[in-house]
Amino acid sequence: MLKDRNILLGVTGSIAAYKAVDISRRLKDHGAAVSVVMTEAAARFITPYTFEAVTGNKVYTDLFKDPFSHIELSKKADLFIIAPATANTINKLSCGLADNLITNLWLTYEGLSLIAPAMNFRMYRSPSVKKHIKELKKNGVQFIGPDTGSLACGEEGPGRMVDVPVIVEAAVMALTEKDLHNKNVLVTAGPTVEAIDPVRFISNRSSGKMGYAVAHAAKRRGAEVTLISGPTSLPEPLGVNTVNVNDADEMEKAVLKHLTKSHYVIMAAAVADFSPLSKAKVKNRKAEITSLELKKNTDIIKKIGKKKGKRVLTGFAAETGNNIDSAKSKLKDKNLDLIVLNDITREGAGFDVDTNIVTIIDKKSKIDEYPLMSKIDVANVILDRILDLKK
Ligand code: PMT
Repeated sequence: MLKDRNILLGVTGSIAAYKAVDISRRLKDHGAAVSVVMTEAAARFITPYTFEAVTGNKVYTDLFKDPFSHIELSKKADLFIIAPATANTINKLSCGLADNLITNLWLTYEGLSLIAPAMNFRMYRSPSVKKHIKELKKNGVQFIGPDTGSLACGEEGPGRMVDVPVIVEAAVMALTEKDLHNKNVLVTAGPTVEAIDPVRFISNRSSGKMGYAVAHAAKRRGAEVTLISGPTSLPEPLGVNTVNVNDADEMEKAVLKHLTKSHYVIMAAAVADFSPLSKAKVKNRKAEITSLELKKNTDIIKKIGKKKGKRVLTGFAAETGNNIDSAKSKLKDKNLDLIVLNDITREGAGFDVDTNIVTIIDKKSKIDEYPLMSKIDVANVILDRILDLKK
């Protein structure tokens, strides 16, 4: 997501400075080029050499060593993150003081910025810090955190720098083009679980990873996202309206409830096709179970296909083999605009894993095969294809 993006990471003198190493590493993993700038105080907590090793780039600490670094570095940056940001630095940034390389860069920088404060809670609640945070926010600076919890000094309160993944996600969000702004995206994910009795159930295999990735990617691209999820062990994607359901009936009701306002519907859930004809209120005795009577569940996507209006409807086909014909007939039968075929027998595709190998088929029978990709990359390809249909 951050390929070819230049990120300037300012590290100031807080015990949380060591966490900035992980921030720079993860930003680099996302494809960003990271230039680290440190205050003298930060270099007492962690050495510039550590950042140099992690980012593969020169680390800047001295305003006088590279006379034009305060202009050149800010000119090429797409995002300026200050993490951790001390009370001292926040107050200086707000006042426009320029007594070190970070504060100088701040004055010459004109793009997107994120600040992750870290300080003792008494400093955080001081009138001057409050005033300067308010002023910076008024000027369009985005603050992330701080969190409340135990602080380095042993006290409790607001002032902890937020966790590294939260900062990295904020950076990805800030730099992702918002091509789904003003669009409502409805996603289904995970399995449905059809109870036999309070202990037993039948279900389909699905970790929810594929559907959650679609919801996450759509959120990053600026959409309002509703995720209807069967039982999974995944954390709810940040900023997504997640509706938890158990069985196919509940999923159908939730989908129909949220359908009205949605522009794009993407159904990655592995909905159980059958459920027990009756659900026992108490546990069945093992010896008494000889057979199980099943009823067919509603085909939710097919029902939506009949009344989709102008919505773009995307379904998935989990196949054991590259069964293009079967996927094509699902596309036609369910009145879909796109179908995403994943052959679950291929290594790195289908259930549980973080990757997938998909073939996307559209209504004109155009077939596009994609290589092994992370599920978040697959999700972005699907969203690109949906937007292409609208062009
Ligand atoms: O969750 P993961 O572990 O990441 O795994 C991802 C996945 C393999 C589950 C996912 O990529 C996938 O293929 N999901 C669809 C699985 C499936 O049920 O396929 P299907 O061919 O049975 O269903 C076709 C389409 O109809 C799907 O969009 C499905 O959501 C929908 N459907 C199916 C049955 C039903 N009763 N109602 C439905 O809406």
